[in-house]
Amino acid sequence: MGQNLSVKKRYPIRKHKKSSSDASNSSDGSASSASLDPSSHRSSGSNFQYIEGRRYHIAEQTRYALPDDDEEVYRLQVVHYLLRYIWSSNFSAPVEDMLRDGGHVLDVGCGPGTWTLELASEYQQSTFVGVDISPMFPSEIKPKNVSFLQLNATNGLPFPDDTFDYVFVRWLTTAFTEEQWKSAILPELVRVCKPGGWIELGEPDMRLVNLGTNGSRWNAALATYLNKNQINPSTCYTLPDLVSSFNSLSQLSTDSRDIKLGSWGGKEGALAAQDCSDFMKAIGPRLYELLEMDGEEYARFVEMAMQEFETGGRSFMRYFRIWARKDHGMNGLRGEMKKKNKDKKLMKERVDVKERVDVKTINEMSNAVGM
Ligand SMILES: C[S@@+](CC[C@H](N)C(=O)[O-])C[C@H]1O[C@@H](n2cnc3c(N)ncnc32)[C@H](O)[C@@H]1O
Repeated sequence: MGQNLSVKKRYPIRKHKKSSSDASNSSDGSASSASLDPSSHRSSGSNFQYIEGRRYHIAEQTRYALPDDDEEVYRLQVVHYLLRYIWSSNFSAPVEDMLRDGGHVLDVGCGPGTWTLELASEYQQSTFVGVDISPMFPSEIKPKNVSFLQLNATNGLPFPDDTFDYVFVRWLTTAFTEEQWKSAILPELVRVCKPGGWIELGEPDMRLVNLGTNGSRWNAALATYLNKNQINPSTCYTLPDLVSSFNSLSQLSTDSRDIKLGSWGGKEGALAAQDCSDFMKAIGPRLYELLEMDGEEYARFVEMAMQEFETGGRSFMRYFRIWARKDHGMNGLRGEMKKKNKDKKLMKERVDVKERVDVKTINEMSNAVGM
């Protein structure tokens, strides 16, 4: 493995204080929603909800169930370093030269911006924009070539067509419904990508493999919860088809890695299992009802699921990278025109056949009646 599995905070993280950030501006001006749990509370007019000490973002049209507090920022940073280690790289699209020479990069759902910040310091000729519904990214101290915007990506991206050389999305499986991927997210990623530019998605299969009894029960509850919200926990398998349905995208590639959970996966396996347990805790309040557990029972349940990683049979999570290129202007245009012409030709052929049939039928009928 070429990369060092060092987990460190490279940039100061914006601190969230209940009193001040509760009243912070909203990304979409959405109003409050009902509490999920009697133990939760929220300040009036805020876009956050606290459940058992964890902070969750609330926004209309989103079903994102994970918290957006400092604990979650740290978890996402760990995931970043883990993925970089497992892949020995931060990306798979062939964008290295472009990044060195200087290009424009967009990271949609950037979270704390760890990927963006790391690339920005490595590729200083390039400029980076990270967008997220939650203000988890650093707002004050950041490199000159980085900016962050708080927005709800399901409402569209506020950039002109053909702006970015590289559009990156990572770990948004639990954020979007299949319909949102299809009708809102992917079309926007394609629109803002320059002809000749690349789009890359990095998504896990949230159906983990080889889990023990408690792990399986947890995973089934997660799938039920996500499905109830029209979110496909295995959207990684449908994304390549969705990507290839865009005429302007070509050179589609996919690759995957199995992230081992538990010490059978060595140092990274232990870290991945720890992250999995942190994820279970973070999403816990959404699952209490389905599992018919309270917070304390759930905490013990997560512990048992964790132990199963050690005693059970080689659990893992499959993670995919999917990348494709937006065709160059003329190619893209030619592609679209070719398709339109093909459709036109097909239509004409159908009409011709129908006309031939009609003429033949009329002739036969005429002969039959002796006209
Ligand atoms: C699992 S985190 C991944 C963060 C980052 N991509 C990474 O790999 O570290 C998912 C992120 O998606 C963001 N998100 C969820 N729904 C969103 C939406 N509708 N628009 C923009 N961001 C969204 C969340 O706030 C969260 O930061």
